[in-house]
Amino acid sequence: MSTEYGNIPEETIDAVLHQHDIVETVGRFVHLTKQGKYMKGLCPFHSEKTPSFTVTPDRQIFYCYGCGMGGNAIKFRMEIEGLSFPEAVKIMAEEAHIPFQNTGGKPESPQDRETGRLLQAYEWSEKFYHFLLKNTEHGRPALEYLRGRGIGDKLIDQFRIGFAPDRWDTLVQFLDKRSFDLAEMEKGGLISARQSGDGYVDRFRSRIIFPIANRSGKTIAFAGRILGEGHPKYVNSPESRLFNKSRVLYNFDQARSAIRKQRQVILFEGYGDVIAAWEAGVHNGVATMGTSLTEQHAAMIKTAADEVLVCYDGDNAGQNAALKSIPILEQAGLQVKIAMLPPGVDPDDYIRSHGKERFMRQVVEDAASTTKFRLANLRRNYKLSEESGRLDYAKAGLPVIAALSSPTEREVYLRELSSEVDISFESLKQDCNLIRQEQHRPAPGQEDPGPAYSGPQSGGRGGQYGSKNRDRGDYGGKGGFSKKGSFGGGNYGAHEENFFPQERRARPNRDLLPAYQAAERRLLYLMLQDRQAADYVAERLGDEFNVPENAAIAAYLYAFYAQDREPDSSRFIASLQDEKLEKTVSSIVMMEGPREWNEQVLDDCIREVRKVPHLRGIERKREDMMRAEKEGDFLLAAQIASEIIALERQ
Ligand code: CTP
Ligand code: MN
Repeated sequence: MSTEYGNIPEETIDAVLHQHDIVETVGRFVHLTKQGKYMKGLCPFHSEKTPSFTVTPDRQIFYCYGCGMGGNAIKFRMEIEGLSFPEAVKIMAEEAHIPFQNTGGKPESPQDRETGRLLQAYEWSEKFYHFLLKNTEHGRPALEYLRGRGIGDKLIDQFRIGFAPDRWDTLVQFLDKRSFDLAEMEKGGLISARQSGDGYVDRFRSRIIFPIANRSGKTIAFAGRILGEGHPKYVNSPESRLFNKSRVLYNFDQARSAIRKQRQVILFEGYGDVIAAWEAGVHNGVATMGTSLTEQHAAMIKTAADEVLVCYDGDNAGQNAALKSIPILEQAGLQVKIAMLPPGVDPDDYIRSHGKERFMRQVVEDAASTTKFRLANLRRNYKLSEESGRLDYAKAGLPVIAALSSPTEREVYLRELSSEVDISFESLKQDCNLIRQEQHRPAPGQEDPGPAYSGPQSGGRGGQYGSKNRDRGDYGGKGGFSKKGSFGGGNYGAHEENFFPQERRARPNRDLLPAYQAAERRLLYLMLQDRQAADYVAERLGDEFNVPENAAIAAYLYAFYAQDREPDSSRFIASLQDEKLEKTVSSIVMMEGPREWNEQVLDDCIREVRKVPHLRGIERKREDMMRAEKEGDFLLAAQIASEIIALERQ
């Protein structure tokens, strides 16, 4: 979103960091206790019971050993409040009375300016509609309608709900008076062109206005719902330069911090569901906008969560949409569960008629695994009271079970199926195995043995298998990252586990990094604190680090010092503006070990780093030699052998 704002001068960022102490910034959200050089607390970005979140006043950074989140004060505000970098800087500058102008680098393009005007117009229109709803005669019926649906003042404010009166030109006049270009506003979807071609009319008339925000909370579209029954139920803003339905999730901006914390999203179909769920204490709910879920939505969710609970309407359309969403979500690497609502009931109705507690207990906590959901969905098509119905259901259900890679899971579902269709478990199992043989045999190793399975499990609550609990329980606390272990090893492990959550269970704990990686991190650690160390390494190693990320950090660091800047981790992080690098730098800064260095220390590390290309060269030569031997060219093989010996001596 940086194009919205242009660049920010470095001095502003420096001033912001200077004025916002990290302990104060974090302290407003996290209870910190002092522990030697650090402050410690419970991480606001993931759930934990013992504190692994640290703040280091003398380096002005935070870092969590549990989830790898880290950075400076700006980064903290971005994450905790769901802000973009320029937004966080702007807010923090205002708080500290630092003049803020975003004209550092490139001048704003005409497109940027148009985007800016449109955002402004949406913001003002939203406030205007909100005002009309709450404070005028026009809004009265809408207010009553909303109250009747359990949406009171608090929710109206929280979701910035508004009302567009039943007139042709309320918003047109409002925008015109404020000198907005009406043609531009029409293009941006706020108003409509008259059919006759002259002039403009309001797009939303006599409708409740639900503002739709982008991920940083800026309104980019409206959905207008009719009061009560009628057609069309919704009039929405058209797609515009700001608004692309397939990339926007309703309420993602407000839900983001809860989503991050729980690593879970609840996906609803309607605005009403999100709002009712919010009132029930579910703050990680989002909704698509009447369109089906897209890959982009899934990717957006994956930036903050590991699991999605799909909570669609209990009617056929809702259930089919849920079925379709499963592969899209799974392909994005998300775990999926499906809430099972009674037929014809939507989450909003459910909460209103059964209350929050029952919604939490019976819908959210009892959500089904995708397999259970698929089977339930099939079952509806058969008459289980008749023998032929039972047989057909078994035939339809077996392939779903056979596709599961875990034998334990297959057993659970087969037992359940067996009792439903009144066919013996053994026969079903045999059929299942036959189907598995036909279905393409999985490659060895691909078979997931599943978690240790203790005792029979009634009811087949398969949701537990492969759910996040297994990974997180095992890793979060006692996982392989010892804090005081060898230099940097543990930290890096923790950090990497978070970037590749899918690989977590496959890999054994990795307490120790390969020597060259530890050496690279140690070099960067010393370079970050001492400019002379950086100069020394620049001359001898340059950016020839083996881990590309480390090479990038070194290059940025050289550039940072080249601008005559003093060592300052927090400011250096601000100059990166790359989440992955920020986290890595934070984890390096948090490494423990002596800060003192001499040339000997640096040389040892550099040698370790340089070994890698050298060893790789030898490795390649070995391969060449073997190939030569295989092809019978013994002369060539002997020659390569002597080269290898020479290389090894070096
Ligand atoms: N939707 C839409 N246009 C319509 C109908 C539906 O854009 N004509 C979208 C909206 O995003 C809506 C969602 O589909 O929120 C779900 O539709 P529905 O269940 O009909 O609407 P709700 O918002 O749940 O309405 P309510 O509960 O107030 O009847
Ligand atoms: Mn609905």
